[in-house]
Amino acid sequence: MTMQDPKTYFIRTYGCQMNELDTEIMAGQLEKRNLTLAPDEESADILIFNTCSIRDLAERKVMGKLGQMGRSHKQHRLIGLTGCMAMAKKDSLFRKFPHLDFVLGTNNITDLGAVIDEALYTKKQVFRTEDKFEENLNYLDAKREDKVKAFVSIIRGCDKFCTYCVVPYTRGSEVSRPPESIIEECQQLISQGFKEITLLGQNVNSYGKDEPAWNCLFHDLLYRLDKIPGMGRIRFMTSHPVDITLDLMQAIRDLPSLCEFVHFPLQAGSDRILKKMHRIYTKEQYFEKVVNLRQIVPNVALGTDIIVGFPTETEQEFQETYDALKEIRYAISFIFTYSPRKGTPAIRWKDDIPEEIKLERLQRLLDLQIEISQEDRQTMLGSTVEVLVERFNRDGRHLKGRTRCWSKVIFEGDASLIGTFQRVKIHGYSHQTLVGELAPALIMV
Ligand code: SAH
Ligand code: SF4
Ligand code: F3S
Repeated sequence: MTMQDPKTYFIRTYGCQMNELDTEIMAGQLEKRNLTLAPDEESADILIFNTCSIRDLAERKVMGKLGQMGRSHKQHRLIGLTGCMAMAKKDSLFRKFPHLDFVLGTNNITDLGAVIDEALYTKKQVFRTEDKFEENLNYLDAKREDKVKAFVSIIRGCDKFCTYCVVPYTRGSEVSRPPESIIEECQQLISQGFKEITLLGQNVNSYGKDEPAWNCLFHDLLYRLDKIPGMGRIRFMTSHPVDITLDLMQAIRDLPSLCEFVHFPLQAGSDRILKKMHRIYTKEQYFEKVVNLRQIVPNVALGTDIIVGFPTETEQEFQETYDALKEIRYAISFIFTYSPRKGTPAIRWKDDIPEEIKLERLQRLLDLQIEISQEDRQTMLGSTVEVLVERFNRDGRHLKGRTRCWSKVIFEGDASLIGTFQRVKIHGYSHQTLVGELAPALIMV
């Protein structure tokens, strides 16, 4: 190492869980090169923004930040931009931000070290943004933020092409990861003491379809993972309703490690809007799946994503979304106002729903969800649930964890319980969080 070699790094992460995991993988690569995490972004020799393009606001946050940094004196050895904005904007970012040293796409994170070397030694702006992911990442070196829960990537990319969405362009086409590699990583995580694994992909239930010779579809993979000795809980996210199969529903019923929570994103309740979104299901087909799933797994909790104010959405069509939420009663809803994205098919339609109407629709759905969640929490009072204890709550007094159905629970206890499964009796709630007390019998350590 020369005197000038960078010694510290900092990665600021925006966007979804895939980006959080990619940050951990990049951090692992940097630490292998003997770089250490800087205490804050200001003091880091290498500063990386791992970015998101899903909505305009996500991009604006990073653009604002990069713009500001250009005006101030450059204190970092290198500034890099990775993630979905790298794919959406590619080298045009260099024209806007001359102080940016490298741009690295979502399918190239394995090249991080080489790109840093090139930027350092050529003093030129470097960019790599390939469209398709090559299965070559060393997941085993990822630097895990948490000690109890870990993300494991099983498939990258998305082939669904919903008309509003940038992900198929920013993550490329679907590439499944070999089951042996997933199993090896899960075994390592279990031996390191991890108790919960969340299988990640933009559409996890397309898993294996691109590699028919593996003979391992998503539910097959789940059966194999459940068998690994010491496996605590398995979760997965996210799934496309079309690919939620009876086999998967039966796996949720039958596999002890697989949690009873399914993110089942509806997006809209009107058939005309669903068609315009290219979601490839009708409301009726969607409802049929929900009914099946609830028959097979009666205690399952469901989550959803909803977009309001999609081009041409009428009040009546919005009302259909409202009614769907009311009927299905999701445990959790992520509700967004439509944001037109460059490069997506929907950009050709005028963004014709005024912002105040979008916000008003959003608020109506939020109010409904609060009401439903409130009623659900009421019914939980007096029941005893299994909690995986994750950490201390922000108040420093309670421990915090989640039930199998993904409800947040806090209760009093000491640090030795972190990373264990406990039975907790619920006696109250505050906002989204259930409050309880330790019930005597220990079910699993
Ligand atoms: N693969 C996941 C979604 C990833 S993006 C899935 O299909 O469920 C997360 C959510 O962001 C989407 O479900 C959608 O509700 C929302 N979203 C995506 N593009 C959007 C846009 N252009 N405007 C507003 N919300 C959007
Ligand atoms: Fe986007 Fe649709 Fe793919 Fe989800 S399934 S990532 S919403 S294109
Ligand atoms: Fe954002 Fe990319 Fe995830 S656009 S939501 S970081 S896949």
